[in-house]
Amino acid sequence: MKIAVLPGDGIGTEIVAEAIRVLDTLDLSFEMESALVGGAAYEAHGHPLPEATLKLAKEADAVLFGAVGDWKYDKLERSLRPEQAILGLRKNLGLFANFRPAICYEQLVGASSLKPELIAGLDILIIRELTGDIYFGQPRGRRTAVDGHFPGAEEAFDTMRYSRPEVERIAHVAFQAARKRSKRVTSVDKANVLETFQFWKDIVTEVGKEYPDVELDHMYVDNAAMQLVKAPKKFDVVVTGNMFGDILSDEAAMLTGSIGMLPSASLNAGNQGLYEPSHGSAPDIAGKGVANPLATILSAAMMLRFSLNQPEAADRIESAVKHVLAQGLRTADIWSAGTTKVGTREMGDAVVAAITKKTITG
Ligand code: IPM
Ligand code: MG
Repeated sequence: MKIAVLPGDGIGTEIVAEAIRVLDTLDLSFEMESALVGGAAYEAHGHPLPEATLKLAKEADAVLFGAVGDWKYDKLERSLRPEQAILGLRKNLGLFANFRPAICYEQLVGASSLKPELIAGLDILIIRELTGDIYFGQPRGRRTAVDGHFPGAEEAFDTMRYSRPEVERIAHVAFQAARKRSKRVTSVDKANVLETFQFWKDIVTEVGKEYPDVELDHMYVDNAAMQLVKAPKKFDVVVTGNMFGDILSDEAAMLTGSIGMLPSASLNAGNQGLYEPSHGSAPDIAGKGVANPLATILSAAMMLRFSLNQPEAADRIESAVKHVLAQGLRTADIWSAGTTKVGTREMGDAVVAAITKKTITG
């Protein structure tokens, strides 16, 4: 088994280092190889996703990814910006199924901006389609308008599109995930306005007939955005397109009060996956040793479970994380009065210690 390690930019290198220490503690036999990605790769090789990095990722069983991006690259032409690295990996590895769990840890109920009773026990799973929709749809670009409200004016356009197989496969992923949970799927669309999402809704409904044991409902994206803050616990599995999933998953993450806690997995049809924290590169705190490594550590756990077939090792990491939270250790992003503030490294140390102790005591 081989893991490609792509720390990226900003806090990426700090948090991935802790995840690797945690993986090393588990004494599993896999190979790890690192490469540059994002702004770091652009600086060194002139491209955010160099050929060698892509090759390493393609050949690995799993990719452990940190984060990419920095404001200083905002003026580069689009194809050279750090974000293109993650989009390129998604596209080239066919990582169409993005799992973004939003779990509210008992000890962090107070960190949410919502009332505790609304989010205590929250455990939802957003499944975002990741390689289609307006993100990748062609054509796109700039041109002179020939029609519309201002013919002759300069205009920009993107194309929202989904093919039947793209919708079918993500729907299957959602129904199958729901079978392992509470057997409920909410499909989020904008079928009242968009052709693409009426098509989406029709196909999800069809696929749903193959899963009579799973309850399916449909919700417009604007209403879903509202219901997520009104009564988030009513959701279980949410399946949606690339663009809506981008937005709703940030909203769902923030319900838990701590985007620094949330892992994610992006899988292809062969269960090869890319694992990354749901948060970004946070250039404002990079290099200070204060970033929360737990989302990346939990992403490593997802990697063990989904791509490396090591569910017990994944369980050990997840219970170690719960243990350090119960000990009252908090990085700055989740700190509250009465708890102990620690840095990135100390948090990693604590998780490693919790795993080691469990090994000794069985
Ligand atoms: C995410 C990010 C990316 C996206 C960016 C960095 C391209 O926001 O993973 O949610 O829009 O998908
Ligand atoms: Mg996003």
